[in-house]
Amino acid sequence: MSTTPDQTEDGGFIKTPKQLFTVVALLIVGVVAVFLAINIIVPPASSGDAHNPEAVESRIAPVARLVLVPTESERVLKTGEEVYKSTCSSCHAAGVSGAPIFGNVDAWQPFIATGFEEMLNVALHGKNAMPAKGGNPTLSDYEVARAVVYIANNSGASFEEPAAPEAAAD
Ligand code: HEC
Repeated sequence: MSTTPDQTEDGGFIKTPKQLFTVVALLIVGVVAVFLAINIIVPPASSGDAHNPEAVESRIAPVARLVLVPTESERVLKTGEEVYKSTCSSCHAAGVSGAPIFGNVDAWQPFIATGFEEMLNVALHGKNAMPAKGGNPTLSDYEVARAVVYIANNSGASFEEPAAPEAAAD
């Protein structure tokens, strides 16, 4: 009955605890080095396109999205005619509640005589049956001013179109 080669060996090249420690330490360093090398050469699948804009966007996306509505200065301002048709004509076209009728020069003459500023003041803040901003608070002061000019200029006046808010700020 023959013996295996292992049993005949004299213990191999590891003979002292110090040598064992050195071999184990080298093994660990080797494994870590290989692991790091693989990571550098082959990035984990999930980060394959980690830096493309969509991936970044999806990671930093807020839980809830804010939809921005245009602010007063950004939204498209209505022209005087648009404001008149959408808001003012409900009274001023037919003379509801004694409103001076659009285009009636005689009816508007007394108001026009007070001047644009006074007419605008009433249009903005109301008087008697005339509601502030024609009852439409979403209109900007500038849009109301345009409507006043539009109405007045079609009813005997020749006011100048008021300066746009941006221009007025200069
Ligand atoms: C609910 C009906 C109504 C609506 C809507 C309305 N008006 Fe009038 N408006 C009146 C009446 C009534 C008067 C007359 C007020 C008075 O002098 O007693 C008047 C008067 C006016 C005057 C003359 C004010 C003055 O005393 O100098 C102007 C300018 C005017 N309206 C502009 C507008 C504009 C611009 C709009 C739309 C943004 C508008 N109105 C919408 C009823 C209305």
